[in-house]
Amino acid sequence: MTHEIAVIPGDGIGQEVVPAAVDVLEALEIDFEFVEADAGDAVKEETGEALPQETYDLAASADATLFGAAGETGADVILPLRETVQSFVNVRPAKAYPGIDAVRPETDLVFLRENTEGVYAGHEDRLTQGVSTLTRVVTESASRDLAEFACDYVSETDEHDGFSIVHKANVMRETDGLFRDTVESVADEEGVETNEELMDAFATRVCLDPEQFDVVVCPNLAGDVLSDLAAGLVGGLGLLPSANVGSDRALFEPVHGTAPDIAGQGIANPAATIISAAMLLEYLGYDQASETVHEAVEATLKEGPRTPDLGGDASTDDVEKGVISEL
Ligand code: NAI
Ligand code: MG
Repeated sequence: MTHEIAVIPGDGIGQEVVPAAVDVLEALEIDFEFVEADAGDAVKEETGEALPQETYDLAASADATLFGAAGETGADVILPLRETVQSFVNVRPAKAYPGIDAVRPETDLVFLRENTEGVYAGHEDRLTQGVSTLTRVVTESASRDLAEFACDYVSETDEHDGFSIVHKANVMRETDGLFRDTVESVADEEGVETNEELMDAFATRVCLDPEQFDVVVCPNLAGDVLSDLAAGLVGGLGLLPSANVGSDRALFEPVHGTAPDIAGQGIANPAATIISAAMLLEYLGYDQASETVHEAVEATLKEGPRTPDLGGDASTDDVEKGVISEL
């Protein structure tokens, strides 16, 4: 069966790293049909819409989507795109690779971030000039979906002993209290071990000793911020992939944005997007191919060529070619 892959490069370095990842997928000679579509600032400028209906429909019907990044319109693009796959969890591995000058080379974490609600639910108001409010939404059902995914995730292999629940229920007693209690009770039902950590304390402890943690389950904003913090521990945003997983569809994207400071120079690190593509392969059942791509990226990061963010002087293209030659 041919899988249809929606390819949405977006803006800035999305236009550089997504084609590199597609080239890697094409080199595997799997029977994929790639369909490209526009989203982001550039298409908004042209048409008035950051996420054209045809792009939305494509992502909603494709077997999987590979997305780059969108600039100013980021939230107008990625939030509805995540909705097209009804994604309730954002999987963000943050792993240090051999040979990379990481702040904490022993880091090997996976963030499982709630992906639909919290402070990103979009309920913001301006009460009056100078006074704005935000409503934070936490539901038992979304917390339960995330917790069930987390339990399956840690039970699938024997690599993980349960997971950490990172929250701020000491202050946000109602919302994070519900989040923590729901996640904990699902884990109890499933016989999965958990420990809990307040998110501010987690931020310090993960920097000092990342090996204390493995799989981290957290609300939406906390997952966004703490995974970027973890990117800092492993060598930068050029290395962090992600998967937005829904019940029967998924969307893959690097954690980083459009990187306007380096866009157009051909020096963006494509590793995050290529690893996202490896996660896409695994999601579609190509486990062996996924493993091959992971190993090729790891070998390339170790031996070079490397882009400037990792201290090298290679181009995006050089890294892509390096990965393909390792395949
Ligand atoms: P950013 O992730 O684009 O860049 C932060 C820093 O990391 C920059 O110095 C950049 O050069 C570097 N960097 C990021 N990815 C890299 C890569 N692959 N290779 C080498 N260096 C890399 O975040 P920033 O600057 O806060 O946001 C820029 C734009 O991207 C904004 O308009 C923002 O709204 C948008 N954005 C979009 C996202 C999305 O579409 N999912 C996510 C985050 C930001
Ligand atoms: Mg972010």
